[in-house]
Order: sequence, then C-alpha cells, then structure tokens
Amino acid sequence: MLKWFPWVLSAVLALVLMVGLYLFGVRGSVAEGDDGRTAVLLSSAERNLVLSEMRGFLESVQEIIDAASRGDMKSAQQAALRVGRVDLKDLPPSLLRKLPIEVKTLGLDTHRKFYQLGKDIEAGLDRQKVLPRLAELMNNCVGCHAGYRLDVEPKGE
Ligand code: HEC
Repeated sequence: MLKWFPWVLSAVLALVLMVGLYLFGVRGSVAEGDDGRTAVLLSSAERNLVLSEMRGFLESVQEIIDAASRGDMKSAQQAALRVGRVDLKDLPPSLLRKLPIEVKTLGLDTHRKFYQLGKDIEAGLDRQKVLPRLAELMNNCVGCHAGYRLDVEPKGE
C-alpha cells in the first residue's frame, strides 16, 4: 500500500490541478444569461476595458471600409494594424482568468486576423479583396456576440 502512495498522491494532485485549470482558465467566470447567451462575469473596470477594446474593433472596421472604398490603402493598412496586436501582459491577469477559453481564443484570433489583413494590404493586397477578407474576419465578431455577453459580477466575488 505504502509503495503506491506517491503515485496515488501524484494522481490526486494532477486531478486537482486539472480541475483548477478548467475552472479558472478554461471555463472562466460565467453564468447563464437571461437571453440564452453565456454571461461572462467581470468587475465593472474589466468590463469597461473589454468594451473599449470592442469599440476599437468597430472603429477599425469602419475605417477599413471607408479607406478601401476610397482606394486609400495606407489608411486601411493602418486601421487594421492598430487593432492587430494585443499584449497579454497589458491585460489584468484576473480578466484572463475570468474569460472562458473560447472567448480568449476567438479574441486573439480576431486580433491576429486584423494583423494579417494589415500585413497583406502592406504587401499589395488587391483593393477588391479587402471587403471579402473583412467579411470573413467579422464572422468572429458575430460568432462571439451570439454566444456571450458581459455582466458585472455580483458584489462580494
Ligand atoms: C471573443 C468574443 C468577441 C469577439 C471576437 C468580438 N466581440 Fe465585440 N463584444 C463581445 C462581448 C461579450 C460584448 C458585450 C456584449 C453584451 O454584453 O451584450 C461585446 C461588445 C461589443 C460592442 C459594444 C461596445 C460597447 O461599448 O458597449 C461592440 C461595438 C463590439 N463588441 C464590436 C465588435 C467587433 C466589430 C468585433 C469584430 C471585429 C467584435 N466585437 C468581436 C465579444 C466579442
């Protein structure tokens, strides 16, 4: 019995670690929203931060459409690259822990797609191809909004 103890202990610890990772990093801090979507529960400051990032996305989309329709590819490129990066170091760790893994993945992928669009415009992407690329990228916006919303967490959490 004693000789199995370290193995049993390791297995239990691994399980605890996995459950911990799941609860904090994968599942995030969520509740069922009253509109059928998953509500991510954030502090008011964290929610404001995410929403201001969202408004940055919307501004870039507007600018890319405007610039590309005028043939101003330099401005289109700049608007795409402006939201093309996010430094995880700049985000509060508490926010990263509360966002479900799917939201983190889709969010990062959206930044990455803007970055790639900016780089491709820089490399001479045809003006006609900008809108289809934007339409494709915006499936991320639509998909995430359909599944998630942001609520302020109840006091005391
Ligand atoms: C990974 C998930 C995700 C992606 C990707 C995403 N959003 Fe959002 N966005 C959200 C959530 C969640 C909210 C809050 C919605 C709510 O609470 O009803 C939001 C809110 C917004 C808002 C409202 C901002 C405010 O001030 O209230 C805008 C505008 C917005 N998103 C634009 C976009 C655009 C444009 C894109 C794509 C380029 C995008 N979002 C991609 C999750 C996402």
